[in-house]
Amino acid sequence: MLSIRHLNKTYSGPRSRLMLRDINLAVAPGEYVAIMGESGVGKSTLLNLIAGLDLPDGGSIAFDGTELTTLDDTARTLLRRDRMGFVFQAFHLLPHLTVMRNIMLPLALSGAEPDKSSKLTGEMLEAVGITALAAAYPRELSGGEMQRVAIARALVHRPKLVLADEPTGNLDTDSARQVLRVLREQIMRSAGAGILVTHSPAAAATTDRVYVLTADGLHPQLAG
Ligand SMILES: Nc1ncnc2c1ncn2[C@@H]1O[C@H](COP(=O)(O)OP(=O)(O)O)[C@@H](O)[C@H]1O
Ligand SMILES: [Mg+2]
Repeated sequence: MLSIRHLNKTYSGPRSRLMLRDINLAVAPGEYVAIMGESGVGKSTLLNLIAGLDLPDGGSIAFDGTELTTLDDTARTLLRRDRMGFVFQAFHLLPHLTVMRNIMLPLALSGAEPDKSSKLTGEMLEAVGITALAAAYPRELSGGEMQRVAIARALVHRPKLVLADEPTGNLDTDSARQVLRVLREQIMRSAGAGILVTHSPAAAATTDRVYVLTADGLHPQLAG
């Protein structure tokens, strides 16, 4: 599903430094992995590279049979839109759209038929337990509810890979627990793969494998 080999990334400019050094990672279909690491170590940078939002300085990123680094901007945008889903710490819902419209958005953007869109959106609302909120606007929701909307939106088009960047960073313990349960359930249900970036050992423990990103690279977390 995803195979990262010898990935390097340096940000140029006055504060230039090697951000990601020789990163290697393989994620198979149906696998859900966590990436932990100190603030500023490059976790979001790594997710951006996997998402094709930015290009590495060296190494390869093979996703679903395609080498991302050989694609142009348009091809990477289409691949990201059609085969990936994103969940962010700050939710990133569109405030002027209802819950239902927010979830439907990825389908609308990829030109899905309205009937099919409605059906898939209804299924996702139910799957994440927010059917009663379909007509509400984001400002009317709690943080945990907003994140469940964001999870529904990330998965509604059945992506091959879900990338979640500190999705519980703004949530209280109970909401975080619920969001993590829903996220895991939905990734498993879609038979896709998932990468969870988190500071929280409890969050990381909801995944199958945990990696730690340091200045030296990405390493499997030692047991215990
Ligand atoms: N576009 C950019 N240009 C230069 N430096 C950047 C850019 N984006 C992030 N950085 C720097 O790279 C480092 C890692 O950022 P980030 O990947 O967001 O870390 P993390 O998600 O692990 O906290 C930070 O020091 C940040 O300031
Ligand atoms: Mg980050």
